[in-house]
Amino acid sequence: MKTNRRDFIKISTLAGVTLAGESVAGATHKSTTPEAKAPAFNMSGYAAPKIETVRIGFIGLGNRGPGAVERISKIDGVEIKALCDIRREKAEDANKLLEKTPHKPVLYSGGEDEWKKVCERKDIDLIYIATPWRLHTPMALYAMEHGKHAAVEVPAALTLDECWQLVDTSERTKKHCVMLENCCYDFFELLTLNMARQGYFGEIVHAEGAYIHHLLDSNFSKTKYYDMWRLKENLRNGDLYPTHGLGPVAQALNVNRGDRMDYLVSVSSNDFQMAAMAKELAATDAFYKPYENKTFRGNMNTTTIRTVNGKTMMIQHDVTSPRPYSRIHLVSGTKGTALKYPEPPRISNSHEGWLSDEEFKALETKYAPPIVTRVGEMAKQIGGHGGMDFLMDWRLIDCLRNGLPMDMDVYDAAAWSSVAPLSEKSVASRSASVDVPDFTRGAWKSNIPVDVQLLKGGNTRVRL
Ligand SMILES: NC(=O)c1ccc[n+]([C@@H]2O[C@H](COP(=O)([O-])OP(=O)(O)OC[C@H]3O[C@@H](n4cnc5c(N)ncnc54)[C@H](O)[C@@H]3O)[C@@H](O)[C@H]2O)c1
Repeated sequence: MKTNRRDFIKISTLAGVTLAGESVAGATHKSTTPEAKAPAFNMSGYAAPKIETVRIGFIGLGNRGPGAVERISKIDGVEIKALCDIRREKAEDANKLLEKTPHKPVLYSGGEDEWKKVCERKDIDLIYIATPWRLHTPMALYAMEHGKHAAVEVPAALTLDECWQLVDTSERTKKHCVMLENCCYDFFELLTLNMARQGYFGEIVHAEGAYIHHLLDSNFSKTKYYDMWRLKENLRNGDLYPTHGLGPVAQALNVNRGDRMDYLVSVSSNDFQMAAMAKELAATDAFYKPYENKTFRGNMNTTTIRTVNGKTMMIQHDVTSPRPYSRIHLVSGTKGTALKYPEPPRISNSHEGWLSDEEFKALETKYAPPIVTRVGEMAKQIGGHGGMDFLMDWRLIDCLRNGLPMDMDVYDAAAWSSVAPLSEKSVASRSASVDVPDFTRGAWKSNIPVDVQLLKGGNTRVRL
């Protein structure tokens, strides 16, 4: 596929596919001074014109995409116009999910660049992207350049240069670039965000998040991910997937809206599992030969971020250890603490221990976020990681239909995604501290925090 990425360099070639990434040690991306430039426009808090019926094209219909197609088909005020996957059968399978609905999308498949035709259509408002990581930024850019809002799976970008390209393009085109960080819409995360806003935790001093998910077998599976893309990404060393843990705590700390990430330090363990698995598989199956003798990501990465206002966040990434799933989600303030994982979640307001189940339930009722009161039960029925995926999709569509600012704007997409390349850089230099760019170019000081009260909108209906 042709891309216009300026710092596209080869870091590894496996099975005929070139991986793209930023050079890690002594990175030389070309956007070293974009912070100094005046912003073209501030997309934070920007209300794009209302769209009565949001016409959508989906790109990427593997494990993740079809669920989004099905969920969004249950929201009023949308029209699914296009389904695209390079593999025909994936587009057809996703289309079957729409058989009993009024949606009659055109299918696009076959060529590496077929997706461009979807972005080029005149009758589409939103491009929803769930492809392998290296395609996220090129697709989101092309969508915005062709007058579409872009909703892109996590992470939105792989390099700092890509992060800046997203920011610059969103500002210039005034098209939203929303990173689909569904974990910001999980029920406990929404509850703690609302509690944080109302001061329950006092001043938040420290927060933690993580992506600890045993994907060792999936990553080495021949069929789980298209063209082994996810295994190939694991040749980079850092926190490759920071946003599930980071997004919710960054919102609780008002990152990009009153505070911002200043610098980080990152440390990785050795790899004790991936190279060994590659070697073991390659011994009996030539398919795995290209992965033999490669250097894989250190199994546990721990990144600590300090904000300008003096808060800290600890973010971990481990997709190989046989541990129960965890995103940690710790919010620790001067007056209270919240912690999820292990489940059930807990809240405390002293050092003496966690609140009882009854006290927890009372807080859950008192601080219930309006989005949960309004569509939480329907979201649970429709599902998608227990309902959070639906809450995210519904909010995205409701904001577009009502012309409201996005909960997660392009600055969040860039800042949260940037932790991956920045952690790589820190890891490669014995955990030296690395500055986090100010993607808002100073606007963080006056940007308004995310609306958790659903002050506007909220009128988009759902069909069960
Ligand atoms: N937010 C979440 O909870 C969550 C969960 C799972 C996956 N994801 C993200 O979703 C994305 C997709 O992951 P997945 O597990 O579905 O991977 P996948 O490999 O199953 O799906 C990717 C799809 O993209 C298609 N594709 C590849 N190149 C293409 C091209 N040039 N044009 C059109 N289609 C193309 C592939 O055929 C494949 O069907 C990733 O970014 C992943 O991180 C997010």
